[in-house]
Amino acid sequence: MIEAQSWTIPDEAAMRLLGAQMASEFKQGDVIYLHGNLGAGKTTFARGLLAGLGWMGEVRSPTFNLLQDYPTHPPVLHADLYRVASWEGIGVEDYLDSHLCLIEWPERMEGLLTDEEVFHLRIEFDAEDPSARQVTLTPPQSC
Ligand SMILES: Nc1ncnc2c1ncn2[C@@H]1O[C@H](COP(=O)(O)OP(=O)(O)OP(=O)(O)O)[C@@H](O)[C@H]1O
Ligand SMILES: [Mg+2]
Repeated sequence: MIEAQSWTIPDEAAMRLLGAQMASEFKQGDVIYLHGNLGAGKTTFARGLLAGLGWMGEVRSPTFNLLQDYPTHPPVLHADLYRVASWEGIGVEDYLDSHLCLIEWPERMEGLLTDEEVFHLRIEFDAEDPSARQVTLTPPQSC
């Protein structure tokens, strides 16, 4: 069980490390909401998490292809929904059971998850100054 907590992350390397360290907390079927403004560090965290699962290849921001999946254990779906109005028509629902889903711009997920299939964790990324980021974990029951 992940508890609500918050850290100041000083640089990009530390953000990757945080993602890598958290990788073992998640399992197939978990949906992780990555909230935060453009450039707040969501993709950087996802890169670290994938590295923590042993992914040695590139992790591109799925800005244009929207969904990118990785054959890790568990398999990961990395989504960036910034460019769409909603999740409908993209196919993200096809990954919810089979993958660990990392969702950037999860505001667009509204209406997809039922009460029984709530997201597993919300992670908020706040840019404080040009380098430091405040990262806050919020489990669904404390929203
Ligand atoms: N402490 C930090 N943690 C993460 N990234 C940082 C940090 N300090 C500076 N950066 C820089 O901020 C940028 C974060 O970019 P990233 O693609 O991770 O953001 P994002 O939240 O995914 O944005 P978008 O919504 O546009 O996809 C990178 O250029 C990175 O080098
Ligand atoms: Mg991103």
